[in-house]
Amino acid sequence: MDLVEKIKDKARQEFKKIVLPESYEERTLRAADIIISEKIAQIVLIGEKEKIYTDASRLGLNNISKATIINPYDHEKKDKYVDLMVKLRAHKGLTREEASKLVEDPLVLATVMIKNGDVDGELAGADNSTGDVLRPAFQFVGTKPGISVVSGAFIMILKDKEFGEDGMLVFADCAVNPDPDEQQLAEIAISTAHTTKAIAGFDPKIAMLSFSTKGSAKHELVDKVVNATRIAQKADPSLDIDGELQLDAALVESVGLKKCPESKIAGKANVLIFPDLQAGNIAYKMAERLAHATAFGPVL
Ligand code: ACO
Repeated sequence: MDLVEKIKDKARQEFKKIVLPESYEERTLRAADIIISEKIAQIVLIGEKEKIYTDASRLGLNNISKATIINPYDHEKKDKYVDLMVKLRAHKGLTREEASKLVEDPLVLATVMIKNGDVDGELAGADNSTGDVLRPAFQFVGTKPGISVVSGAFIMILKDKEFGEDGMLVFADCAVNPDPDEQQLAEIAISTAHTTKAIAGFDPKIAMLSFSTKGSAKHELVDKVVNATRIAQKADPSLDIDGELQLDAALVESVGLKKCPESKIAGKANVLIFPDLQAGNIAYKMAERLAHATAFGPVL
């Protein structure tokens, strides 16, 4: 069974409630229809019912009537959500008046619904930039205990089965942190290990990537990767992680053996942690376009 079918199967068993704040966007509405018809999740759409139903009818989508629809301007929990927002952001000076306006923004409302426990998750970004989707999530949902930095991983399925886990690799951070420091880079590696196990479904072998392999080059950018590797190892000694490694030393067995024969990761990596967002974002798009890889994500 392929990865997407496995994820769908797992989702069907959990049958979680997912909010889609971009319900006026065609691809999102089509996805909602499929999710409902295949019983993958319970769907909550944010928008005006009449417009959503008109769009659904024009597109020939027959399942949208089974979704819960929340009008962002007028719903029973609006005051309660405003209270919650003011409580969460009092230290930043958020007033009731500001919160009452903000909560009408579907991207904000979706995150407040998550925080209040009314939905389990959100899918967005088809019609809005990554930054605009993430900011309210940072402000109103936050991170899980022990994690200070959110990052975005891509599950990459390559045509060439020679690399990674039978052609599957996880890349991070490809979506969020423009220039992580060494502590943040270590956290990105640890979070990505969890994402790999939970979603890609294999044991992570993590390569901390650089333009240097084990001291072949000296530069402060290399030091950042070396230090991040140490921090991650110390924080979670059970991690299979090594760095700094160049991409070929991480992925190609013969190169790994030649450049660092003592490494358990070199030549066998299935998780690639990039030193910054420029590298990570370029890398996943390059694999997609030049190697015709399929990219799933970013999973936060
Ligand atoms: N994890 C957790 N919280 C964070 C993170 C993070 N990675 N980054 C920022 N925050 C929090 C801050 O602590 C702050 O919280 P506070 O208001 O409680 O103090 C809040 O978010 C806003 O922080 P700012 O530093 O003001 O962040 P800003 O809004 O300027 O930027 C953002 C955050 C939007 C994530 C920014 O880093 C960004 O734009 N990143 C790049 C996104 C992007 O364009 N990705 C590439 C495209 S994605 C793709 O191709 C798939």
